[in-house]
Amino acid sequence: MTPSNSAARSRLYALECTEEFHRLERQASLKEYSFQEDLDDLPALTETSRAASFLDAGCGSGQGTHALSRIFPSQKIVGFDQSALRIEQARKAYPHDRIEFRVCDVLKEFPNSTDRYQGIFSRFVLQHIEQNQQLEFVRKLVNRLDAGGWLRVVDCDGLLINLSPFPEDLRESTQKIISEVGVDFLAGRKIPTFFQEAGLNQITCKVVPLVFFGENMRSEIEMMRERFRLSRPRLIETLGGAEAFETYVNSYLEAMAAPGSVVVYNKFIVTGVK
Ligand SMILES: C[S@@+](CC[C@H](N)C(=O)[O-])C[C@H]1O[C@@H](n2cnc3c(N)ncnc32)[C@H](O)[C@@H]1O
Repeated sequence: MTPSNSAARSRLYALECTEEFHRLERQASLKEYSFQEDLDDLPALTETSRAASFLDAGCGSGQGTHALSRIFPSQKIVGFDQSALRIEQARKAYPHDRIEFRVCDVLKEFPNSTDRYQGIFSRFVLQHIEQNQQLEFVRKLVNRLDAGGWLRVVDCDGLLINLSPFPEDLRESTQKIISEVGVDFLAGRKIPTFFQEAGLNQITCKVVPLVFFGENMRSEIEMMRERFRLSRPRLIETLGGAEAFETYVNSYLEAMAAPGSVVVYNKFIVTGVK
């Protein structure tokens, strides 16, 4: 991959398209991916004045932003996403007088540079940030926190990789996807170090294994099918054509469906205070 290619890719979310809204909504409706566990203990962290505001950075469909508005029932909640399409869909799906959805790339300048937040939540976003920009991503969020405010970043670790048994004939193509597609499949484990380097205090790291086996493997196979389908253009480019893409996806999903197959992701829920 040439450097110019790499730079162009870093600006694009691998699954960007209209249907991604519906995939995110389906994903969040599954027990393993529900927002509840990721948000549950936030009120205990926060002495909240009515004037405080909270940010969902990389809000996607807006469901997490809406969940935050329930946890903080009289505060302003802001949802940022770099995708104008996602923000338009989130506004339609979750209209609310206390929620503001804005198009914003966290790696660029925040729209109102004086805005500060009492808490910032960001889920499943870091893995889509180029590895050499991930610390900067965390630092940009920390810069927007009030003193005493919290940052919580949640991300999965092991997607695509942690399928067992892993088909030998897919190893080479999988390695290509890992190195070229612009998603960091091991982002979760890096969050505590980024928090440390960004100067946060009271860092806690909860790791929740998401285990798919038997009954719940079916829903994860459908999720994987959707992830592959929506990132088709990027994967075709990486794997060298439509046929190679179809072969890869079919073999991968077959391996997931084989009796006894297990998929495990580790969900890192990392919190720090400024
Ligand atoms: C996998 S989705 C997660 C959405 C939501 N947080 C959730 O948990 O369902 C990742 C989202 O991050 C957004 N995103 C990626 N990079 C971003 C950036 N630099 N600034 C703002 N949003 C970003 C994408 O557009 C996408 O909507």
